[in-house]
Amino acid sequence: MTWPAEIQARAEAIVARYPEPRSAVMPLLYLAMRQEGSLTLDGMRQVAGYTGLTSVQVESVASFYSMYKRESVGDYIVSVCTSISCHLLGGEEVLGAVADEAGVPSGKTGADGLFSVESVECIGACGGAPAVQVNYELVEGVTSESGRRLCRWLADDRPQVVTSDHMQAEFGGMRSFEWGPDESEGATGPVPAFGPLGTSGQPS
Ligand code: FES
Repeated sequence: MTWPAEIQARAEAIVARYPEPRSAVMPLLYLAMRQEGSLTLDGMRQVAGYTGLTSVQVESVASFYSMYKRESVGDYIVSVCTSISCHLLGGEEVLGAVADEAGVPSGKTGADGLFSVESVECIGACGGAPAVQVNYELVEGVTSESGRRLCRWLADDRPQVVTSDHMQAEFGGMRSFEWGPDESEGATGPVPAFGPLGTSGQPS
């Protein structure tokens, strides 16, 4: 299946940002995932065509990173870190509370397609453990109680955009750093946004 002209134009714009087409493999994989709702073999073939890599090489990249989803996911992917720092500060309990509140076991997507819940390895926010991401937007210092409130907010308000800044203020606790830039764009879906390239939001 050939991508629509608009998606092809986005793919070409991504490739044009790099000295070597193969360097565009990761953002192109996100584009493919966004386009098809999950990362399919056909999507990876398309990426291979843009990058000059073989399909096997593209798949080897995609299979290494858990953020590339091979199956459809919910509107909100809630990722709870259970690596060592978060584990020591209650990450497993946060995961249990989130899964319970979302009504979705860890590693699964709910039947209504609202939530996917997953346990993830270190997401680079150890100083603000336990750390959680919603659609890859970070919240630090989450407790079981605030994790439940976070899920209730998502289910009740169904925000179209989630931002770290908002979630940190409402549901977060201790942060790793206080000097990070304000971040206003956030994520509009379960795929990193690549806002400047116009790939955020649902494909038209
Ligand atoms: S161990 Fe959880 S963010 Fe690093």
